[in-house]
Amino acid sequence: MLDPTLSALLGALWLLTGGVAVRLMLRVYGQRVPTEGRLAAVRMHRVLGRAYVLIYLVFLFVMIRKVLTYASFTPLQAVHIALGVGLFPVLATKILVVRRYRSLHRILPGLGITVYSMSVAIVALGAMPFLIAKATAPETDELDEQGLIRAGMALLEQRCQKCHDLDRVYDQKGRKSSDLWEVTVDEMVRLEPPLADVRDPILAYLQAEFAAPDTPAGVMLTGSALIEARCQKCHSLDRVFGYTKTEQQWRLTVERYAELLPNHIHPSEIDPIVMYLYAKRGAPPDPEEEMRALFEQQCGRCHNLSRALDQARESQISPRRWKRVIRRMKGIAEERELEIWSEDEAQTIAEYLAAQYKEPEADEGEDEEK
Ligand code: HEC
Ligand code: HEC
Ligand code: HEC
Repeated sequence: MLDPTLSALLGALWLLTGGVAVRLMLRVYGQRVPTEGRLAAVRMHRVLGRAYVLIYLVFLFVMIRKVLTYASFTPLQAVHIALGVGLFPVLATKILVVRRYRSLHRILPGLGITVYSMSVAIVALGAMPFLIAKATAPETDELDEQGLIRAGMALLEQRCQKCHDLDRVYDQKGRKSSDLWEVTVDEMVRLEPPLADVRDPILAYLQAEFAAPDTPAGVMLTGSALIEARCQKCHSLDRVFGYTKTEQQWRLTVERYAELLPNHIHPSEIDPIVMYLYAKRGAPPDPEEEMRALFEQQCGRCHNLSRALDQARESQISPRRWKRVIRRMKGIAEERELEIWSEDEAQTIAEYLAAQYKEPEADEGEDEEK
């Protein structure tokens, strides 16, 4: 879909190329005695004509794709679409006459002017919804919070039923946090840019009347609704609830999906989903996993576990010297001005590494503190 500014610019460019092409054609056909520069005018007309057709095809393609997502049209949209499609045969006829049926060339000026008039009407109809929305948008800047909410209630009815009915919205009542309502409304504005003018009042209304309360119970409601909406696309919910995981593990699972399917799961949906899953299917925290997470967080900034262990094996570090290695790492981290782990954390990491690291037998004894 085209961004509205881009589409306005392209529309203006389209009218400009068409307008100049018509002007040149009038000159070529309208002068009884061929004057100097006639050939150049014909060439220029041809170049502009090609640019015009190209822009038309882009618009046609974008429009058809967009229209396929609409459930119904406003009268303005219907006329806009009919003219946009109707231009095709007129333009095709003009091109055929130029290329194949030159003996009909006398109808070319008429066809050209028809084509151009239709494009002016198409652009005007395309711009009208934006102009109307601008002109009728309430002056929400001056409204207080209550006023904004009241305005939002009416605007929701007027502006949000174009592609789906309001059941779609009522269904979600109490099932989204305030933040997630913002995500939804912004998504709708992306689908329908003229909604930008009424985003604030509609959002204020939805957040006031439709948001799940900002309490643990509210987060659970949001989480449960999100799991229904997001996690049944490829498998049943039995699959989801058939496992128990620690909070960290649930987070990893959900984050992986969010990364894999950025258009399906929004980053701000991760927390409520994880909280719900952990509350329903949480496994007790696993000390080893927590130690690993600490390692990842502190040491993983520069290298992964196997790399550290391999290197340690290569230089035959005995477990007793882990604390010394970690002290050296602290130096490196300080040089790079990174945040440093605490003494307790260093102790935990040292224990974890000693447990992970199977010391080569031969090292024993000979590598005591030197
Ligand atoms: C351009 C067409 C269009 C307009 C206008 C529109 N929507 Fe939607 N809406 C959609 C589509 C398409 C979906 C389905 C998206 C999906 O299921 O991922 C949808 C789904 C929804 C949903 C359910 C999905 C969810 O994530 O909760 C809500 C709620 C919603 N819209 C609210 C609104 C509101 C509020 C407005 C007015 C500000 C609005 N819509 C205007 C196209 C539109
Ligand atoms: C794009 C498709 C898709 C979506 C969306 C999806 N899953 Fe999965 N999921 C899979 C596939 C594929 C498997 C692996 C096959 C299997 O085990 O059935 C799987 C397996 C799982 C498993 C079992 C294996 C494991 O990783 O523990 C869980 C739990 C799970 N999904 C949870 C979720 C949750 C929670 C969501 C919603 C946030 C979700 N899934 C959404 C495709 C999906
Ligand atoms: C600021 C980046 C940085 C951080 C943070 C960091 N390291 Fe290192 N680490 C390095 C570099 C660079 C080397 C290789 C140079 C060296 O050995 O002095 C290295 C090497 C190592 C080695 C191999 C040492 C040897 O003598 O062969 C081990 C083991 C190691 N790191 C463990 C850790 C542990 C455990 C932590 C977390 C407490 C950690 N690192 C945090 C940068 C870092």
